[in-house]
Amino acid sequence: MEEEGKYIKYHGLLCPKETHSEDSLKYLEGFNMRDDDVIAITYPKSGTTWMQEILPLILNGGDLTPVQTIPNWARVPWLEETRAAQVMDKLTPPRLMVSHMPYDLMPPSFFSSKAKVIYVARNPKDVMVSSYFFHQMATFLDDPGTFEEFLDKFLAGQVLFGKWTDHVKSWRKADLGDRILHITYEEMVEDLKGAVRCISDFLGQKMSEETLEKVVSHCSFNTMKTNSMSNYSLVPQEVLDTKKSNFLRKGISGDWKNHFSPEQEAKFSTVIKEEIRGSDIKFPWDE
Ligand code: A3P
Repeated sequence: MEEEGKYIKYHGLLCPKETHSEDSLKYLEGFNMRDDDVIAITYPKSGTTWMQEILPLILNGGDLTPVQTIPNWARVPWLEETRAAQVMDKLTPPRLMVSHMPYDLMPPSFFSSKAKVIYVARNPKDVMVSSYFFHQMATFLDDPGTFEEFLDKFLAGQVLFGKWTDHVKSWRKADLGDRILHITYEEMVEDLKGAVRCISDFLGQKMSEETLEKVVSHCSFNTMKTNSMSNYSLVPQEVLDTKKSNFLRKGISGDWKNHFSPEQEAKFSTVIKEEIRGSDIKFPWDE
């Protein structure tokens, strides 16, 4: 696999070398997906960490122990990251995991399994803003440059895991029937309780009103911000520089309005709309 500065290229996709290696990407390819596995798929900065909190809370009936004692990357590991091989076997079924992979790069066993998928999409303008600040704090990523420069890179897909539109489209065309649930970050911000209920129904987990309230309260932005197992405060400052930004930064939808100029908004929207035209994708932020 080709390397490029701080990145390793996997089928043309940029993955950070800090968290991905040739071995971990080979592990992904040979991964043995089981029918009872549950995987949340996201384009980076779309709510991965949030799902790493929500899923174990739901599957453990609201028990806070996993989310309060195990770091998010070990409790719901990334399928393609270097830690996967060590932590995956320690998970008790149903195994919960996350991935940034586009549909076509999922391992062969995924397609023949019945593993359930939750795809979380987020308004690409907010994804870009979140990613811009993340690039400032994450020393293992290239400096994002100016906002305008980063915007151009984002639109060209010269960013982590490629183009946003390719990622979203790949999972929209995925022919997975009732194995997949599509949800958006905006729906979760708007009605977290409804979103948690929808996810737990999808996973076949019955939840009392009391448990539901407990789960919702625990995975709120403010609670997660103070949970050291989820807010990345365990990662050294030299790796994630919190003087520059926080990992759990704002947790809102529409922050793009504070950062995009009208011209940047027009340019961004024109490209994104053109690229998703004809793909029957409707998002809450378009309405
Ligand atoms: P912001 O930078 O806009 O605040 P990922 O986990 O995929 O890297 O995504 C990170 C984004 O999800 C960050 O967005 C982060 O704040 C947001 N996020 C994480 N947990 C959240 C929660 N409980 N509520 C709202 N947003 C959350």
